[in-house]
Amino acid sequence: MNRVLVTGADGYLGSRIVASCLADQRDVIAWIHARNPIELEHRSHALKERLGGDLECAGGDLLDPDAFSTIDRLGISAIVHAAAVTRFNVDRRAARRVNVAGTSAAAALAQRCPRLERFVFLGSAFAAGLLEGSIEEGPLAPDGFANNYEWSKWKSEQVLQEDHAELPWTVLRAATVIADDESGACGQLNVVHDTLRLLYQGLLSVIPGEPSVPVCLVTADMVAQAAVRLLEGPFVGRFVNACAPVESCPTLDTLLTVAMDSFQACPEFRRRRIQRPPFCRRDAFELLVQGLRRHGGSLSEQVAGSLAPFAPQLFLRKQFVARRVSMLTGRAFPDMAALLSRLCERMLATGACGNRAGVRAIA
Ligand SMILES: NC(=O)c1ccc[n+]([C@@H]2O[C@H](COP(=O)([O-])OP(=O)(O)OC[C@H]3O[C@@H](n4cnc5c(N)ncnc54)[C@H](OP(=O)(O)O)[C@@H]3O)[C@@H](O)[C@H]2O)c1
Repeated sequence: MNRVLVTGADGYLGSRIVASCLADQRDVIAWIHARNPIELEHRSHALKERLGGDLECAGGDLLDPDAFSTIDRLGISAIVHAAAVTRFNVDRRAARRVNVAGTSAAAALAQRCPRLERFVFLGSAFAAGLLEGSIEEGPLAPDGFANNYEWSKWKSEQVLQEDHAELPWTVLRAATVIADDESGACGQLNVVHDTLRLLYQGLLSVIPGEPSVPVCLVTADMVAQAAVRLLEGPFVGRFVNACAPVESCPTLDTLLTVAMDSFQACPEFRRRRIQRPPFCRRDAFELLVQGLRRHGGSLSEQVAGSLAPFAPQLFLRKQFVARRVSMLTGRAFPDMAALLSRLCERMLATGACGNRAGVRAIA
């Protein structure tokens, strides 16, 4: 039997990868984060309800050295390792234990699967850390990172290269996911959506970043599709930058313009006469964050906690080389600026900006 084990299987991308595998008539073991049997039962039930199908679930905690001990290794032909702590403000210890040691554990499991053909690691474009310029689809050597999450995703790549060179691995480096797909729907809110929400509320007095910096984005369905195509065998021992090629990346300035224009369509936003915040320098933003942290308050912590660990990236001109992902998916990237506009409309329509949900958002 050829089974695909997906870790982080009920997470945002993991569940989409499981769904794509099922749609491809593949047998799946959905490995779910669970600290005890009751949590496993509860989360397995929820995932089966969502995805339907004949889905085998297993689970554990990557903090547990025996996390994969109950897995029947004989039938596994591929592993997609998507489990990770994904908060940009994760502390170093958790980043090391869950993300780095967790990748080691998943790779060690792969080594012990006698029929294993593929190991796909869901990495991050931010494994490039503070690098600028061309980011190739190859090994990276950044000389610093904006946060522990970035470091852990880079370090996990190192683990595969140095300790598991003989495994048939591929690193799929996903950029920031802006939406589920071209519709602009979004099942998981991340730093992009948090920033949009703060913008809508008029709570961002400044935006950190260089206006002309290209912002590297991707949709969840592109990542999931690429991950499943990798199971067929291409790019062993290679890296795939899962992001729009640089010529299709909107700049930070364009994204801010699109967001503000989209919000202008909402009467509630217009009524409050919220102005477009100016861009500020990195040192000025750091001063602001320090001040917010000193004076506390849950709102200021939201700004500091969500945008601050990511902000250094908005000053770095990265140009991702991304030839392989379109080869895998066989389709072009959507226009990201138009997609952002649809995303803003959707967020308004569902009340995700903190606007009055249910009220007709678009004038
Ligand atoms: N979404 C993006 O924009 C993006 C971009 C680039 C790369 N990625 C990468 O893609 C992968 C999936 O991300 P995602 O967006 O789907 O995130 P997600 O929704 O947070 O999924 C991550 C999954 O990992 C699980 N997990 C966390 N700690 C664990 C532990 N100690 N043991 C076992 N499982 C654990 C989570 O469980 P809990 O729900 O219990 O925490 C969750 O199910 C990650 O490796 C991430 O680094 C994502």
